Amino acid sequence: MFFNFDILALLLLIPASYATQPYSTWMSDSFMTRGVTADRHYANAVLYRGFELAYNKSGNATYYNYIKSQVDQFVDPAGNLGGNYSTSLFSLDDLRIGPNLLFLYQSTQDARYKTAAGQLRAQLDRQPRTPRGGFWHRSPDYPNQMWLDGIYMAEPFYAQWNQLFDASNVTAWDDIILQFDLIEEHCRNKTSNLLVHGYDESKVAVWADPVTGAAPHVWDRALGWYFMALIDVLDHFPESHSGYAKLLGYMDSLAVGVKAAQDAAGGWWLVMDAPYPGMKGNYIESSATAMFTFSFLKAIRLGYIDSATYLETAQKAYGLMTTKFVAQNGTNSTLNWEGTVVVGSLGSNATFEYYIGIKVDENDFKGAGPFIYASYEIELLDL
Ligand SMILES: *[C@@H]1O[C@H](CO)[C@@H](O)[C@H](O)[C@H]1NC(C)=O
Ligand SMILES: *[C@@H]1O[C@H](CO)[C@@H](O)[C@H](O)[C@H]1NC(C)=O
Ligand SMILES: *[C@@H]1O[C@H](CO)[C@@H](O)[C@H](O)[C@H]1NC(C)=O
Ligand SMILES: *[C@@H]1O[C@H](CO)[C@@H](O)[C@H](O)[C@H]1NC(C)=O
Ligand SMILES: *[C@@H]1O[C@H](CO)[C@@H](O)[C@H](O)[C@H]1NC(C)=O
Ligand SMILES: *[C@@H]1O[C@H](CO)[C@@H](O)[C@H](O)[C@H]1NC(C)=O
Ligand SMILES: *[C@@H]1O[C@H](CO)[C@@H](O)[C@H](O)[C@H]1NC(C)=O
Ligand SMILES: *[C@@H]1O[C@H](CO)[C@@H](O)[C@H](O)[C@H]1NC(C)=O
Repeated sequence: MFFNFDILALLLLIPASYATQPYSTWMSDSFMTRGVTADRHYANAVLYRGFELAYNKSGNATYYNYIKSQVDQFVDPAGNLGGNYSTSLFSLDDLRIGPNLLFLYQSTQDARYKTAAGQLRAQLDRQPRTPRGGFWHRSPDYPNQMWLDGIYMAEPFYAQWNQLFDASNVTAWDDIILQFDLIEEHCRNKTSNLLVHGYDESKVAVWADPVTGAAPHVWDRALGWYFMALIDVLDHFPESHSGYAKLLGYMDSLAVGVKAAQDAAGGWWLVMDAPYPGMKGNYIESSATAMFTFSFLKAIRLGYIDSATYLETAQKAYGLMTTKFVAQNGTNSTLNWEGTVVVGSLGSNATFEYYIGIKVDENDFKGAGPFIYASYEIELLDL
């Protein structure tokens, strides 16, 4: 061998300033070139939303047609949601494809997409709840547990459905606020302004705090989902409802906590609560770094948070991603996305050792999707 392949790989990592085309479309193209297996799974939903933004950015129908051709593989002509969707398994993860279905409904006015989304909305009417009224993350697996992840899976869809079809349903708007209130009451650390992964209202999970039911650690991706949920729900939530100001307040103090937790190089640690940042085995994880970057940028654009306080934070994080997590060593001019942890579950013992023991993957939709969202936002700044 005449080449040192490690050095070659490093040389191929490209700083943002040298990017020859916008990352929002380039990263989308890369996944389309490699091919995506159509699925209604939330990870696919997260990637498809990236393609929606690439479409909105470029106006190029290739992205739109790709999304539609994928979704049409699991929504039949009558609007039945396929892909083994079951009305007897209650997982909030299943709801994440809802916004993609509504995107297609709005662009085609084809009723079958509304029918499919309606099945997900109907699930919420049957989803088991904690005694206080919080949706279980998944039944029967996680009784009385709310996870930050589930807030992103369910609430932006719930709010969008309401806005489109049920805007005068005050009970439903109140219900959305209740989900955030319960999470805030049980998971928020008012000193660090960060939230732990979830809580068990029955306090029986192996990890549950005996008094509050809270999980022990701040897992970066759960917090990333939660930050994005707050921002995206505000797209649909009526300003006239008293809950609107509350959501803004939750988002505002979360922004303070996330900015304070940023590593000097610009990213965020997998396990974010003290004293774990910097500890052996912990690392800067790419999916949450992308989610936080996107959240800051969108919140700045919409005037929810102050550019003077947060823009530099977001730009620094974005710069880090383009050098550390975007790699131009794919085949056929495709980009690879590096450094995303595969999973983090409260079905575990939820210890620091558990979280750091999970493997990291290349080209994970849950990281690449949010990187496309962040790219979309950063590219808007240049317009
Ligand atoms: C691309 O480069 C990154 C960073 O060096 C490396 O982690 C990854 O495995 C490489 N991927 C391929 C397909 O060579
Ligand atoms: C893209 O633009 C369309 C039309 O303006 C809009 O309905 C849709 O919500 C947008 N999608 C996203 C993901 O922003
Ligand atoms: C649209 O996007 C596809 C995929 O990136 C590309 O091959 C095609 O050239 C683009 N079309 C236009 C008109 O830019
Ligand atoms: C549906 O279930 C069948 C049988 O278990 C499995 O082979 C198939 O991959 C599943 N499809 C999806 C989209 O999950
Ligand atoms: C209003 O929302 C509540 C809570 O989701 C739901 O139970 C009820 O069926 C909705 N009402 C209508 C008319 O859709
Ligand atoms: C809340 O965060 C502070 C600052 O990081 C920390 O000292 C404290 O232990 C945390 N509280 C709980 C209950 O974890
Ligand atoms: C790369 O391009 C070649 C030639 O067009 C094609 O045969 C091959 O399938 C492509 N590989 C990928 C991973 O798309
Ligand atoms: C928790 O689970 C991890 C593996 O996921 C294991 O390494 C660790 O020892 C467990 N800790 C406790 C206290 O059970």
